[in-house]
Amino acid sequence: MAARSSPWAAAGAPLLEARALTMRYTTRDGRVTTALADVSLAVASGEFVALVGPSGCGKTTLLSILAGLQRPSVGTVLLRGDAHARRLGRVGYMPQRDLLLPWRTALGNAVAGLQAQRVPRAERLRRARALFRTFGLSEFEGAYPPQLSGGMRQRVAFARTVLAAPDLLLLDEPFGALDALTRAGLQRWLAEIWGRLGTTCLLVTHDIDEALVLADRVYVLTARPGRIQLERHVPLERPRRLEQLARPEVAALKAELLAALVDEAAADAATTRQGGPR
Ligand SMILES: Nc1ncnc2c1ncn2[C@@H]1O[C@H](COP(=O)(O)OP(=O)(O)OP(=O)(O)O)[C@@H](O)[C@H]1O
Ligand SMILES: [Mg+2]
Repeated sequence: MAARSSPWAAAGAPLLEARALTMRYTTRDGRVTTALADVSLAVASGEFVALVGPSGCGKTTLLSILAGLQRPSVGTVLLRGDAHARRLGRVGYMPQRDLLLPWRTALGNAVAGLQAQRVPRAERLRRARALFRTFGLSEFEGAYPPQLSGGMRQRVAFARTVLAAPDLLLLDEPFGALDALTRAGLQRWLAEIWGRLGTTCLLVTHDIDEALVLADRVYVLTARPGRIQLERHVPLERPRRLEQLARPEVAALKAELLAALVDEAAADAATTRQGGPR
């Protein structure tokens, strides 16, 4: 993979920016859950940013707001500095579950976003086939999702996301349901693809090692309601290797991120035991 320099070196307006987002859900019985509180973050063009936080802290909520699928109760999202830019269909969003349609082939699933954008059939097949070659999926074009392994399904779902909106990808725990070996393979694969496509990624994960192997920067969210608790730069050159995680400065960073995450998970469990919403 070609080495990529820090995108902050050429910092202009961030590609994506969230300003003071708060999200409150009201359930049918009138109860209010505050999922996010005053979240601000920025992602530069070409950057890989990870977002780590305990379960239920609002990560999926945050991504769906950034993707334009929901409106926040309070706050603003800017795409290329524009608070009024349409994000739906321009920001690639890979949901937490792969949501592949079982009656469509891998290629048929991958072109779904292009179809919604009314790209002509020949053109969408051409683009999808080219991406399948890049992704090492060519021989599975005609396979149906139940015939694919979990890792391959995630690659097809990722292809669908990249085809629909290649510049900015919001990935919601893409490897969460996979075994450790498949996960490690796909992390290497994603790092390589990110380098090759020159795209921008915001990745949600529970896994600190995954954040350290993939990201330029990491945000840690508190337990619900999610607030930004910590933001750290990852001081590692690319291409990354697992052995780099053993370096003293990276081990110290990992310990710091883990402590923040574990404290928050414990705080959440204690609140849940007391039966009180936060
Ligand atoms: N559509 C909704 N209506 C009401 N409450 C919701 C809705 N979506 C999410 N919530 C609540 O908002 C909070 C945050 O949920 P969210 O799915 O964003 O968390 P998460 O960090 O992605 O969790 P996980 O790590 O388990 O995926 C939870 O308390 C959840 O119950
Ligand atoms: Mg989630």
